[in-house]
Amino acid sequence: MRTQVGIVGAGPAGLLLSQLLHLQGIESVVLERRDRRYVEHRVRAGVLEYGTAETLREAGVGKRMDSDGLLHAGVVLRFGLRSHRIDFVEHTGRSITVYGQQEVVKDLIAARVDAGGDVRFEVDDVTLHDLDTDHPRIEFVEDSASDSLQCDFVIGADGFHGVSRGYLPDLVHYERAYPFAWLGILAEAPPSSEELIYARHANGFALHSMRSPTVTRMYLQVAPEENIDEWPDERIWAELHTRLSDGSGFTLTEGPLLDKGITPMRSFVATPMQHGRLLLAGDAAHIVPPTGAKGMNLAIADVRVLSRALGGYYADGRTRLLERYTETALRRVWRATHFSWWMTSMLHVDPGGDAFGDQLALAQLEYVTTSPAMATSLAENYTGLPYEHGWSYR
Ligand code: APR
Ligand code: PHB
Repeated sequence: MRTQVGIVGAGPAGLLLSQLLHLQGIESVVLERRDRRYVEHRVRAGVLEYGTAETLREAGVGKRMDSDGLLHAGVVLRFGLRSHRIDFVEHTGRSITVYGQQEVVKDLIAARVDAGGDVRFEVDDVTLHDLDTDHPRIEFVEDSASDSLQCDFVIGADGFHGVSRGYLPDLVHYERAYPFAWLGILAEAPPSSEELIYARHANGFALHSMRSPTVTRMYLQVAPEENIDEWPDERIWAELHTRLSDGSGFTLTEGPLLDKGITPMRSFVATPMQHGRLLLAGDAAHIVPPTGAKGMNLAIADVRVLSRALGGYYADGRTRLLERYTETALRRVWRATHFSWWMTSMLHVDPGGDAFGDQLALAQLEYVTTSPAMATSLAENYTGLPYEHGWSYR
């Protein structure tokens, strides 16, 4: 079997890359370990930066996002029983779209299948070969039979637990573990607020988000080693009521839980993101804590850069963008890593911390919610940095 670009992983990164290459007439094959149903139903975050939504539209998969996604012009920061709204449109002229990651994945799979794309699910034992040559190869097992895919490039878009990163020699990684995790729920209940609420309470962080006019998504800060069995639904609701209260009558609407799980929090960046004909994209190379909602947005930004770099290569043999891929991608990754770390430290209560740390976080929240300069900084990071060269925000 032969293709131009072999892609490992059918998350947002691998699927979108396949779609963007297809639009430039470049062939690819996507190899995914899980089955299609699993990939389409994995509940993850759901905030699309302004540029992410634009990229999905350009990729021809914006239709359902534009009809079902919720356009948000700001978020609420809640602490000390008071709410403070950060207006994105006022500060940056941009908004965000709330639309679940699994919906993006469904739209991308549908687009690839409609266009006759080759996306293979339930593929096992992926190994990579000859990455230092011009004809790398992916070996894998499908329906209990071994197979091999010859390509020009291999893209490791197989997430944090994938195999691709392990093929990069001399990899350097930077890592930060946080002393907490998020317990996330999906509830069949209308959202209790029109916009997202990020709350800092003495008991810990809570987030109110949503998926649709009838489905609410919420999170609670818990200990990293927390056992989900110790969180019966009543305990979750009680804690959400407490942490989200605002002293002026905010009421939280309850409903049956559709999903519940605990996600660890970590910052991780691996560099370089490429070696020979292997290039990494998305969670395979970097992860951020979910507080800034940057995970999927970074994966999509990587792929945007990669699709242009590969487009240039196939159009007229240009390699400059490919050579500069790591540098270009990591610039954005580190900015988002800082933003996610900053949001996380400001909004969570460090269980091993002290009153000094708490006061610093509160002082920072106070500053962000009273200074237009700080509000602008939060808004431009949250709605997403510009893609094109340079870092001019004007
Ligand atoms: N072989 C084939 N596929 C694999 C392998 C493997 N050895 N290992 C992992 N995969 C698949 C996973 O099953 C998953 O479907 O690779 C895919 C990686 O997808 P994601 O984890 O969604 O990663 P990415 O596409 O980079 O998207 C990043 O996902 O984790 C969230 O918050 C993160 O929103 C961000 C987004
Ligand atoms: C979500 O809706 O799942 C969500 C929103 C904002 C975040 C993280 C997750 O920061």
